[in-house]
Formats: sequence, structure tokens, C-alpha cells
Amino acid sequence: MKILVTGGAGFMGSNFIKYVLEKYPDYEIINLDKLTYAGNLENLSDIEKNPRYIFVRGDIAKAEDVAKAIGAGVDAIINYAAETHVDRSILDPRAFLDTDIYGTYTLLEAVRAGKAGRMVQISTDEVFGMVHDREEEFTEETRFDPSSPYSASKAGGDLMCSAYFRTYRTPVIVTHSCNFYGPNQYPEKLIPLFATNLLEGKKIPVYGQGDQFREWIFVSDHCQAIDAILHRGVLGEVYNIGTRQRKSNFEITELILNLLGKDEDQIEYVGDRPGHDFGYAVNPDKLMRELGWKPEVDFAEGLAATIEWYKNNEAWWKKIKSGEYQKYFEKNYANREELLNLK
Ligand code: NAD
Ligand code: TYD
Repeated sequence: MKILVTGGAGFMGSNFIKYVLEKYPDYEIINLDKLTYAGNLENLSDIEKNPRYIFVRGDIAKAEDVAKAIGAGVDAIINYAAETHVDRSILDPRAFLDTDIYGTYTLLEAVRAGKAGRMVQISTDEVFGMVHDREEEFTEETRFDPSSPYSASKAGGDLMCSAYFRTYRTPVIVTHSCNFYGPNQYPEKLIPLFATNLLEGKKIPVYGQGDQFREWIFVSDHCQAIDAILHRGVLGEVYNIGTRQRKSNFEITELILNLLGKDEDQIEYVGDRPGHDFGYAVNPDKLMRELGWKPEVDFAEGLAATIEWYKNNEAWWKKIKSGEYQKYFEKNYANREELLNLK
């Protein structure tokens, strides 16, 4: 197979590229990435010289960049490219519309024109809005009810995928996953932000009281789910990807503090995220039943391995935190409550 992975320099895209090159010795990968603040070619330094891998810098929202990356054609497109951070979407939604909606449309047009055999849209459970307790679950049929500009943009892209399948029979599959965690995640998301702040001796900002909860999937389990969906998924279908491992932000904070030998004095309770979804909980039964996938990594084990990775890879995250992230932090975080009208 020849696969176009978009957003392959980001967290999950880079992990997936390495997973495929190792598992399938005859597969070729083209990585199309715009290299936004979240794109980092260092994530791929160990495979950059692999003859079965090519990097193309470009924007999924530009048809000419997509055409250049696809060349004569590919067997599949896996669309990881997106603006992904809820807090950034609250401060400035524009780029989210461009990439997550228009970019998805541009890729769908390439598939409709016959340039790719199929497309797998990587999306999020956040399109469903929120659940109120850990027993309530999102199924594939749950109505979209997004809360943030991020989740609304992802919902827009996902709905274009369903519309293209219904209208043109464009071969596309949509996935809705719970929260990812693992090595190489940009240190603006909860787990890597807290781990790296603690390693730097800084405080960790818990929004509200930390009682909101998320469901978590380790990188390797998500790669295996996409592998199953790419090869055995039914075109036009939607698959939820979940683990039923649900933890409140406070529970995660405690676990990270323990792993790093720190105490609760490091916590700083800050104003809550506007429109903050209380909980995400995914029903993954369809994927497990129909494609035989199941998650393997227990949250406590995956979290320990992740924290260990951040401990051992200071150079990776220190470069990020002293560069673009520092500028973002100074501009938006230092006076976050004022910017978000929380004061
Ligand atoms: P990330 O933010 O780490 O990386 C995104 C990548 O996309 C970066 O390399 C960036 O340069 C690239 N990119 C952004 N705009 C682009 C454009 N216009 N053209 C080409 N490349 C562009 O993302 P991630 O956390 O690995 O998430 C990957 C995908 O998974 C996203 O679609 C996201 O919505 C989805 N998802 C993420 C989570 C999560 O917990 N992180 C959960 C469910 C679904
Ligand atoms: P995040 O990693 O941004 O993922 P998402 O909002 O897409 O699920 O946040 C995960 C949870 O952690 C969410 O409930 C918000 C909370 N959070 C904090 O309490 N403090 C922080 O600094 C961040 C980034 C997140």
C-alpha cells in the first residue's frame, strides 16, 4: 500500500507513520504536513532516511499541495492534520475552520476525483458534546452537539465526509476517538503540560475544581485501531474508538504528582475553561465486535511510560517550551483569565 498521511509531523500522525513502516515492510508513506507550531520533524528523525518514506511540506486546504503530495495516486489517505487544541480555538477559531473543515473538503475532493482508494478521517469524541456521568456513553448514533470552536470544526469536517459518501459514494470512513496520550504529545495538552511543568519545578494549572473527566487511549492502541479500520473497515461507516478508561482531571493530576514525587502544593486552581465539557465517554463495542480490535494498555501503565518518556527526553520538550510555546504562553496564558473574561 501507498498511504498519504496528513499531519504526520504531529503527535499521533508521527507515531502512526513509525508504526506502519515497522509493521508493513512493503508499505510506502507520504507525509503531507504544513508544519504549524504543532508539527515537529524531530518526531520522525529515526525514520527520515527510510526509502519508503517521503515528507512533503504543504497545506491540506490547498488543492495544489494535496495534488503534489498524491502524485499519480495513493491507496489511502489518513487525515490526521488538524488544529487540535481547544484552548487555542477559544482564543482564535479561524485556523480551525480553514484546516479542520476546508482542509477535509480539499482531501475529499481528491478522493472523489479518484486519486485515493479510500480515506480515513481521524476525529474526536468531542463532536458529540459531553456526558454528565461515567455511565452515559457516546455511540456512533449520538447526535453531534459540539461545544468548542475546535469540536465544531471537527464536526464540520466529519459531516462533509458522511455527505460525500451519501452523495457521491466517495470511499471514506470516519473515526471518533477519546483523548490520546503518550510520547511526543505537544506540551500544551493536559498530561505533557503537567509533566513538563513539574519537571521544570513550575505549578500546574487545574481548570475549575478538576472534576471534569476524559477517557484515555495510549498511542499504540490508537494506531492498532486505525490499522484495523484502514484494512477492514466498511466504507461509509463511522467507528468510535474508546477504552472505557475514564479519569477525572484531578485523578490524573494526583497520579502525575505521585509519579514525579511531588505534592499537591504544586497545584494552582485557575478559572475554568469557558464552555468546558464535563465528560467524554465512548462506547467502542462496534469496533471491538466488527473489526476485532481491543485496547491493550492499562491507563496506569501507559501513564507511567509516558511520564518516563518526558523525563528522558527533556531536549525534545525544552526546545518547544522555549520557542513557540513560550511566545504563546506569554501572550495568552499569563493573562488567560482576562482574555477569557473569567475575571
Ligand atoms: P497535533 O496537534 O499534535 O498535530 C497536528 C499536525 O497537523 C501537526 O503536525 C500540524 O503541523 C499539522 N497540520 C495542521 N494544519 C495543517 C494543514 N492545514 N495542512 C497540513 N498539516 C497541518 O495533533 P494530534 O493530537 O496528533 O491529533 C491528530 C488528529 O487526531 C487530529 O485530527 C485530532 O483532531 C484528532 N484527535 C486528537 C485527539 C487527542 O487527544 N489529541 C483525540 C481524538 C482525535
Ligand atoms: P486537553 O488536554 O486540552 O484536552 P481536551 O480538552 O481536548 O479533552 O484537556 C484535558 C482536560 O484537562 C480538560 O478537561 C481540560 C483540563 N486541563 C486543565 O485542567 N489544565 C490545563 O492546563 C489543560 C491544558 C487542560
